[in-house]
Amino acid sequence: MAAAATVRTRSLAGGVVPVALLLLVLCTGSSSAAGQLDVGYYNKTCPAAEEIVRNETAAAVTASPDLAAALLRLHYHDCFVQGCDASVLLDSTPNNTAERDAKPNGSLRGFDVVARVKDRLEQACPGTVSCADILALMARDAVSLAKGPSWPVALGRRDGRISSAGSCGELPPLHGDVGLMVQAFAAKGLDLKDLVVLSGAHTLGKAHCSSYADRLYASAGCSTPDPALDARYADRLRMRCTSPYADDNSTTTTELDPGSSDTFDTSYYRHVARRRGLLRSDASLLDHRFTRAYVLQAASGRYDGHFYHDFAVSMAKMAAIGVLTGDQGEIRRKCNVVN
Ligand code: HEM
Repeated sequence: MAAAATVRTRSLAGGVVPVALLLLVLCTGSSSAAGQLDVGYYNKTCPAAEEIVRNETAAAVTASPDLAAALLRLHYHDCFVQGCDASVLLDSTPNNTAERDAKPNGSLRGFDVVARVKDRLEQACPGTVSCADILALMARDAVSLAKGPSWPVALGRRDGRISSAGSCGELPPLHGDVGLMVQAFAAKGLDLKDLVVLSGAHTLGKAHCSSYADRLYASAGCSTPDPALDARYADRLRMRCTSPYADDNSTTTTELDPGSSDTFDTSYYRHVARRRGLLRSDASLLDHRFTRAYVLQAASGRYDGHFYHDFAVSMAKMAAIGVLTGDQGEIRRKCNVVN
């Protein structure tokens, strides 16, 4: 079931851009229990909710600007694995290894900020605002605090009670080609445009050597460094990552969008267009006719407004993946443990 809603998104320049957002209303599990997400869902039950989230996120991002990237990525990793149900926030237990302890989630950050926001919301409106909604709001606020667009977030998600490291295979593979990326997105109801637009999130943040060092060296699997990577850029990266077998615990990081990794803009696409996309997934966007055309258009710098609009639309789609609503799941009192 899908429902279209017309909403408005605010551009950073202060203007308000009307946007037709296709808000996917997902039926998960028993259809009778599935409901709809609504912009303004907490207007009556917790009117200060969005303001509390915004203020706490602003305080955290002002103190540490690189947290904006972390918060955006947390929401993505939540939604792609078992839907946007805050399962990524749950701690492992003696009998269960949770998502957050799975290898692809090893460098996720920002859990403490989310916990702080949840505590504030529990003081204001106990048992009302879900951790899954908090992640969606914080991702939106993080982007706008990083000088990116803002958009209305449809709310009403409930929190899941299950989190399993084994489910993290639902994330797009780190070393996959564009075909595998397309497949991983399609499995979540997201299309080619969502792939190239949401990859633009890599305008923020950093990556560890272990995420791309294999592209820099000939190795058992590859007889040459990745030919898709600009040779001069690869030389510079090899000075940072001195071994193809980068240790997962290595603390050396490199900006995904060199020079503006705390600012949400289109310069990521300029790097990708010049074959300087840091991750294999970034580089692979040049290997498909559609995604390549989008990269080149965004890289021109003449379509920033289009990208901001597209990003808001694709984020709304991502934020609706596999949501729990109605009487499904629960509203956790603490985001890291089930009630
Ligand atoms: C297309 C498939 C994607 C792949 C294969 C991918 C992979 C990665 C990897 C490997 C890192 C670096 C992790 C590290 O070394 O610490 C990263 C960072 C990041 N990703 Fe993605 N990603 C993808 C899509 C997305 C999407 C859809 C979003 C959000 C909408 C996103 C947001 C981010 C952010 C903000 C960072 C920086 C995190 C930080 O600085 O802590 N990514 N991604």
